[in-house]
Amino acid sequence: MDTTIWTNPLSTIGLATLTYLTYKLTCQAIIYLLPGQLSRYNRPGTNWALVTGATDGIGFGFSQELCARGFNVILHGRNGEKLAQRAAELSAAFPERKTGVLVLDVVGIDDAVDGVAQQVRKIIGGQGRLSVLVNNVGGETRPSVTLDELAFADVDATIDRNARFMAQITRVLLPLLSEGEGRSGLVLNVSSLSQYGLPYISVYSATKGFVDSFTRALEAECSAEGRGVDVMGLRVGQVKTPGYDVDSNLFVPLPRPMAKAALDRVGCGKVIVWAYFWHWLQGLSFEIMPRSVLMRITTQKLKAIKKEEEERKKKAKRQ
Ligand SMILES: NC(=O)c1ccc[n+]([C@@H]2O[C@H](COP(=O)([O-])OP(=O)(O)OC[C@H]3O[C@@H](n4cnc5c(N)ncnc54)[C@H](OP(=O)(O)O)[C@@H]3O)[C@@H](O)[C@H]2O)c1
Repeated sequence: MDTTIWTNPLSTIGLATLTYLTYKLTCQAIIYLLPGQLSRYNRPGTNWALVTGATDGIGFGFSQELCARGFNVILHGRNGEKLAQRAAELSAAFPERKTGVLVLDVVGIDDAVDGVAQQVRKIIGGQGRLSVLVNNVGGETRPSVTLDELAFADVDATIDRNARFMAQITRVLLPLLSEGEGRSGLVLNVSSLSQYGLPYISVYSATKGFVDSFTRALEAECSAEGRGVDVMGLRVGQVKTPGYDVDSNLFVPLPRPMAKAALDRVGCGKVIVWAYFWHWLQGLSFEIMPRSVLMRITTQKLKAIKKEEEERKKKAKRQ
C-alpha cells in the first residue's frame, strides 16, 4: 500500500479539510433527527399561539400542527369570513382546542397595531397566556417583474407584508410573550431561500434578508435582557401553497408537512435554520456553488416563470 498519502503535507491538508467538512455537515444534518422542544412553551390547555397569515398555505399548516400539539390558536388574516371558516375547521378537527381570530390587513398598517395586545388579551380572556408567535404572513405582491415595473404601492405592500408588520406585531406582543416564568415565550419568523438575493423578486428577496437580520438581532437582545423569550428564523424553500402554486414533490412539500418540520426544529440550538431537511440539502448549493453559477441557474428558472406569468396574463386579457 502507498503510505505517502499520510506523509505528504497536501494530502494531510486535504484529509483534514474533508474530515472538518464531514464533521460540519454531520452536525447540521443531525438536527433533523433530534426531537423538537416545542413542548417547553406549552402547558396544554392554557397556552396560546398566534399565527399571522393563518387562513391559507403554511400559516394554516402551522395552525393545524399547533392545535395537534396542544396549543389554543389565534388565527390572523385580513378576511373575517375566511378566518371564521378556518377557525371552524380547526374546532371540528381538534374539539378540545380553543381558537380566536384577529382581522387586520397588514398592508398600510398604522399605530392601530398597538391595539393588538389588548385584542389578544381579550381573546385569551384570562384563561392562559400567549407563549408562541409565528410570524408567517408574507409573499410577493407582484412576482416575476423587474424593479422598475413595480408601482410605488407594490413596493410598499411587499415591505409591509414581509417586514414592517413582523417588526410591529413582535414589538407589540413581546411583553405578553415575556409574562411567564423561565423560558416561556417563543417567536418564530418565516424566512426564505430568496434571502440570498434573487432577480425578478428583488424587493421580496430583500425583505427576507431583513427577516434574518431582525431574527438574529432580536434573539441577541432578548438573551441580553434575560426576557425568557426565544427567537428563531425558519428558512423555507419551495412549498406548494395558494401563494406558490406548483407541483408538490420531495423538495416541494405541502403546507402541513412543512409546518410540522418547522415546529420540529424548535430547540435545535440554531437561531436560523432550514426548517425542512430537503430544503437544507438544496440550500447547501447556495453555500457551496459560486454565486455566478447559481445566479445563471436561478435567473433561467425565474425568467421562465416570468414568461409563463406574462402569457397567462395575455390569455386572461383575450378571454
Ligand atoms: N410557498 C413558498 O414556496 C414559500 C417559500 C419560501 C418562503 N415562503 C414564506 O412562507 C410564508 C407563507 O407563504 P405561503 O406560500 O403559505 O403564503 P400564501 O399561501 O400566499 O398565504 C399567505 C397568508 O397570508 C395572508 N395575507 C396575505 N396578505 C395579507 C395581508 N395584506 N393582510 C393580512 N393577511 C394577509 C393570506 O390571507 P388571504 O387568505 O386573505 O389571502 C394567507 O393567509 C411567507 O412568509 C412566505 O414568504 C413561502
